[in-house]
Amino acid sequence: MSAAQATKHGLAAGDAAAPERPDWTIDQGWSNYTPAEHAVWKTLFERQTKLLPGRACDEFVEGMKNLPIGADRIPDFLELSEVLMQRTGWQVVAVPGLVPDEVFFEHLANRRFPAGNFIRKPHELDYLEEPDVFHDVFGHVPMLMNPSIADYIQAYGVGGLRAKKLGMLDKLARVYWYTVEFGLIQQKDGLRIYGAGIASSRTESVFSLDDPSPNRIAFDLERVMRTHYRIDDFQESYFVIDSLAELLDLATIDFAPLYERIAGQPEYQPGDVLPTDRVITRGTGRYHDAKRRQAVTA
Ligand SMILES: [Fe+2]
Repeated sequence: MSAAQATKHGLAAGDAAAPERPDWTIDQGWSNYTPAEHAVWKTLFERQTKLLPGRACDEFVEGMKNLPIGADRIPDFLELSEVLMQRTGWQVVAVPGLVPDEVFFEHLANRRFPAGNFIRKPHELDYLEEPDVFHDVFGHVPMLMNPSIADYIQAYGVGGLRAKKLGMLDKLARVYWYTVEFGLIQQKDGLRIYGAGIASSRTESVFSLDDPSPNRIAFDLERVMRTHYRIDDFQESYFVIDSLAELLDLATIDFAPLYERIAGQPEYQPGDVLPTDRVITRGTGRYHDAKRRQAVTA
C-alpha cells in the first residue's frame, strides 16, 4: 500500500450492521474521546495547517477561519452545526463509518453532512480504510461554509437518489469524486485545492499540486462522468474548475439527457489524456508507471 491516503469517500458501506436509527446517525459521543484521540487530531491538524497556506483555495481558508475547529480537540459536531446552520443551513451528523448510498444521499439532500465520529490510530496517520472525523470535518466542513458548495452538495444528494434509480450512480459518483473529493481550482495566484480528499491528506496535498506526474485537466462534466478513478492511491488526473460558481451551475443541470447520451460510450482510464481535453499540465505519469512496474515484477 502506498503512503497515499486511501479512503472510500462517498462510497457505500458493505454489509456492516446498521445502527439502531434508520438514518444511521449516532451520537458523536464527544465526551468519550480519549486524550490520545485528541492528540491524533492535533498532530493531523497541525501538519495540514502548516501545509495548506498557498495550497488550499481562498474559500477553504475562509471557511476554516470562521469555524470552531482548532488544534487542541476533536471538534464538537453540535458546535460546528450551529455555525454552519447560520451560514449555509447545513449540519454535521455523526455516523459510525460508511453508510448505504440512499442513506448518504438522503442526508445530503437535506443538508446534513454525515461524518465519521471515530479517528484513525496514531500508527495509521496516512492510511484510512474509511473516512474518519479528520477527513470529514477538516476536509469537508470548511467548504460547506461556502454557499456554492453548500448548494452543489445538496444537489448531489438529490441527484444521487435519482441516479441510483436510473442505474447511473457510477457515472454521478465520478463527478463527486473529481470535484468534492479531489477537485482543484484555478485561482488568480495559481492552482489551489478544494477537494476534501486532498485537503485532508498530507501527501496528496503536495502530490496534486507539485508533482510532475499527474495530469491536470480543465473540468468537463461529460468527460468526467466517463472517467474511472483510483480509490487506492493518488489520482492520475485532477480536474480543474475556474470558480466554485461552475459547480453551482452543475447543480441546476438535468443530468438525465446526459446519462442517455453517454450510455454505451467508451470510458476513459484515470490517466488518459484526450485530444479534446483542455490540458493545464500534461503529467509525466512517472509515479503510477513505477507502481505498475512494481506490480508486474512483484
Ligand atoms: Fe469525503
